[in-house]
Amino acid sequence: MSVFLGIDIGTSGTKTLAIDGKGKILADNLQDYPCYAPKPLWSEQDPEDWWQATVKSVRNVIKKGKIKPNDVKAIGLSGQMHGSVFLDKNGSVIRKAILWNDQRTVKECDEITKAAGGRDELIKLVSNPAITGFTAPKILWLRNNEPRNYEKIRKILLPKDEIRRRLTGEYATDVSDASGMLLLNIAKRNWSIEMLNKLKLDREFFGKVYESEDVTGNLTSEAAKLLGLTTDCIVVGGAGDCAAGAIGNGIVGEGILSTSIGTSGVMFVYSDNIKTDPSGRVHTFCHAVRGKWHLMGVTLAAGGSLQWFRNAVCQELFAASRKKKIDVYNVLSYEAEKTPAGSEGLFFLPYLSGERTPHADPFARGCFIGLTLAHSRGHLVRSVMEGVTFSLRDSLDIFENLGISIKQIRATGGGAKSPFWRQIQADVFGQKVVTINSEEGPAFGAALLAAVGAGEYKNIQEACKATIKIVKETKPDMKTKKIYDKAMPIYRDLYNSLKDNFKKIGGTK
Ligand code: XUL
Repeated sequence: MSVFLGIDIGTSGTKTLAIDGKGKILADNLQDYPCYAPKPLWSEQDPEDWWQATVKSVRNVIKKGKIKPNDVKAIGLSGQMHGSVFLDKNGSVIRKAILWNDQRTVKECDEITKAAGGRDELIKLVSNPAITGFTAPKILWLRNNEPRNYEKIRKILLPKDEIRRRLTGEYATDVSDASGMLLLNIAKRNWSIEMLNKLKLDREFFGKVYESEDVTGNLTSEAAKLLGLTTDCIVVGGAGDCAAGAIGNGIVGEGILSTSIGTSGVMFVYSDNIKTDPSGRVHTFCHAVRGKWHLMGVTLAAGGSLQWFRNAVCQELFAASRKKKIDVYNVLSYEAEKTPAGSEGLFFLPYLSGERTPHADPFARGCFIGLTLAHSRGHLVRSVMEGVTFSLRDSLDIFENLGISIKQIRATGGGAKSPFWRQIQADVFGQKVVTINSEEGPAFGAALLAAVGAGEYKNIQEACKATIKIVKETKPDMKTKKIYDKAMPIYRDLYNSLKDNFKKIGGTK
């Protein structure tokens, strides 16, 4: 029997999943770890925590699935994108990793844009504008603020690639994850030497770039022993969590888009050719499909907005539901369903963590606008769900304006589990939304890449076709769609009228 592991180094924990050659899930396990915020808007993690969680979750999966060590043929890695692991000459971690949701690098983004010769030139070089979440600004931040640490750097790795180093001893990455560093020539699928030179970054800092299904090494004997596996086990390139999640969702052909509502929201569309938004509102990255690309829009606080509402506003209800063993989200959703579409003129801007798409504005803030005495908690909840979905539609409209025609929308993540939120999505997008059989996310996509790398399937399209099926459809209600079509321009205008004040508010901190 052949077994393939997918390991996803997430922000809240590491998930390991084992599948057999047919894609059947044999076992999974999640190990969590803390996230540190030593200052407002900072976000850091200890790479040692990722490694300990990896070892524990792999061992648990092997035990739970009663898997024989010799059967595990390959590992695929996936992980939170953009995080920076700085390593010294001994391969020791220099400081905690700075994560994708850290907002400390506003100045460095300006520095990068200037060094590239302006925003348009930067987009020409690396297909994307400078965004605080990306990796290059974090490297420059270290150079500007912790020069002693910067001087010690010999290698810089992304989160999942640090785990690869500990598994195989190799310094390497894959095209999809490397795309989010702002240092990759996305068209050529390799480092942009021009960009590295403009930022005065040493090429030697960065590992070899592989396609996602290519073999990057075997387990070292030390790692094999720790995990309870063998040194015959290979590790493939893998992918950033967005691309791996999309693979796990079967987004491997033209016209298919996935909408994912987890903590953040991701609109992800496949493309046979490289297509770049000249104004840089959506990301253009290499896909984990060999020689293909994808575009992606990110809403930073999607499910995170509803979670914030639950924690900040509904503490008592949350505690009472817990006692009764009821999911508080079902209670909130029930209240929201009783209010009319459009929340009777109430709008929510989901910019609780600043925003990426379409504004790329770290100063943007969350707001309820349009409150009246008639509004209840149900209205508030509904407007949060609608506001998040309007934000996702911003990405959809950008894709369509770039000439990408969307034939199928696949909903995934926590938001896809709620039939009510799926209906809001179908109504706001004005298109049918489908869900698939697998709810396993990036770890499943990474395991499929491992299976392809080990030769179980000819390519990733074949692997997805064999394992992924559509199970549910939600059709738009045309009456409600009309209400949302009217609300959408107002939603967009609200940001425009508030953006200068957002800067002033941010500037007072
Ligand atoms: C993608 C992004 C996040 C992280 C964390 O650009 O920043 O989705 O990958 O999961």
